[in-house]
Amino acid sequence: MIMGSIDPATLRGSWSYPTQVRFGPGRIREMARACGSLGMTKPLLVTDPVLAALPMVQAGLDANAKSDMPTGLFTQVQGNPVGRNVMDGVAAYRDGGHDGVIAFGGGSAIDAAKCIALMAGQTRPLFDFEDSGSNWKRVDPAGVAPVVAVPTTAGTGSEVGRASVIIDEDTATKKIIFHPTMMPGVVIADPELTLGLPSHVTAATGMDALAHCIEALCAPGFHPMADGIALEGMRLVHDWLPAAHADGSILAARAHMLVAASMGATAFQKGLGAVHSISHPAGAMYGVHHGLANAVLLPYVLKFNRPAIEDRMTRLARLLGLNDPGFDAVMAWILELRETLGIPHSFAEAGVPEDDADTLAEAAAKDPTAPGNPVPVDAAALKGIFLDCVRGNL
Ligand SMILES: [Fe+2]
Repeated sequence: MIMGSIDPATLRGSWSYPTQVRFGPGRIREMARACGSLGMTKPLLVTDPVLAALPMVQAGLDANAKSDMPTGLFTQVQGNPVGRNVMDGVAAYRDGGHDGVIAFGGGSAIDAAKCIALMAGQTRPLFDFEDSGSNWKRVDPAGVAPVVAVPTTAGTGSEVGRASVIIDEDTATKKIIFHPTMMPGVVIADPELTLGLPSHVTAATGMDALAHCIEALCAPGFHPMADGIALEGMRLVHDWLPAAHADGSILAARAHMLVAASMGATAFQKGLGAVHSISHPAGAMYGVHHGLANAVLLPYVLKFNRPAIEDRMTRLARLLGLNDPGFDAVMAWILELRETLGIPHSFAEAGVPEDDADTLAEAAAKDPTAPGNPVPVDAAALKGIFLDCVRGNL
């Protein structure tokens, strides 16, 4: 651990990759200027009801008002957001005469907010834009509102992503909505906003960041840039997640986890795999937290993928400084990390039953992340991984 030597004030920078990122403690004060830089004059801040009750949201609204950036508030976003949350937000956006969106919160709020911005000027229904084939070409780009993203958790990385995950209530399935213009124009990544995260949320969201990095690294295809970002993202998780979990007030740990989360989502432009293929329907069917589901699933998927990922796990283990670098060393590290963070070992312990394994496996096989798994998977293979995970058979 190296935190003693780091002054959090130096963990600051402005980057143009993969979008404009303003990173560092206190940078939330730039929110009004960031809105102005994207041409907004009257944005709508989209968040969830829990965050809306915290002082940071009111402080942001007040600061914007003082900076001549009057800002509306929409808070009706649930965890694992549904299509209705998006369309209610679109109605609020249009009724209020807004001209941009501030996506403020964790993955659910940011995903919903990005879709509200996408849908602000569309005529077709939301799920016409599901990430499949060339559906994204149906979007009228002129109807997409600008977005400033302000993450308050360190996991999803949705602030630097071009997609959102929204539940289609008609089919009770999670759908990925994708368009290149969904990438927020400015990200304000201020680690001070994550200081109050409860330890179990720190754990689950941090494991989501890890799952993004490791699935991106393992996804097939030639993408050395994504591989490099994924590896460094995992080094940051290795070095800083236990500290962020043990003592949420350590700003350096919060800062490194916040950047690791953005790196995971940057890297997974390369692809994700069976962890996400299974956790998406598990979230839709049982409401299990996305990061928690990924954390429980990860070792079972790695075991399944072992024949295809030995080399990459050796590279990862070397970078992390693990003893006897190889697949077993990475697996041991992940199991130890899960235990340190209080993550359950099985889906059964997390409240996910095996009753609907066939339905879940069919949905997992259709998830757009499934082709990114390094060992090809069909519904039967995904069912096997799922059942092992429910029963704790590792
Ligand atoms: Fe994820």
